[in-house]
Amino acid sequence: MSDITPPIRLAVLASGGGSNLQAILEHLDALGASSAAKVVLVASDTPGAGALAKALTKNIPAAIIENPKDGPAIVRLLESHRVDAIALAGYLKFVPLEVLQRWNGRIVNVHPALLPAYGGKGMYGRRVHEAVIAGGEKESGATVHHVTDEFDRGLIIAQERVPVESGDTADSLAARVLEAEHRLYPTTIQQLALSLQRSTPTN
Ligand code: GRF
Repeated sequence: MSDITPPIRLAVLASGGGSNLQAILEHLDALGASSAAKVVLVASDTPGAGALAKALTKNIPAAIIENPKDGPAIVRLLESHRVDAIALAGYLKFVPLEVLQRWNGRIVNVHPALLPAYGGKGMYGRRVHEAVIAGGEKESGATVHHVTDEFDRGLIIAQERVPVESGDTADSLAARVLEAEHRLYPTTIQQLALSLQRSTPTN
């Protein structure tokens, strides 16, 4: 039996620019040998997604999800990379049931507001920040949560709050929240990976 627990094999699913992917990779790199997770696959439903280009510059396998509704195909893709856990980073599609069942409790997402407020279907990107400002909120923030069959309704794992400042626009608030996401998501992923390592016996 080996004393060294291998890092959790993480897939990152992204639809867009991939700044959260970048933050995750930088954090895990900085942890060096203490990193409990390794990104082994980046997959996207959007062929031009910046996240795919970022993966390739880091020599991480990158794949296009041709049909985001095809659960069995996504399971096959993830299994072919022996994925233990999945982080959604700006992935805008519903995760099919086959994937949710196969990686039950091992799929997380970051949302740019303080859930359970300002989440749910259609609540993404600028719309979230516009709604927070229109709601007269004094605070917003980032939430990391488990992914279930309902958008943004899974168990909340961690949150970081930021102020909503007078004169904020959706863009200025989005930028402040994104900085919080970049701090919160990578550290939370490391913590989750550590707990998965503890619950997964090695041989
Ligand atoms: C982030 O605000 C994230 O919370 C949301 O989509 C945005 C994606 O940003 N789900 P990026 O692609 O990681 O830069």
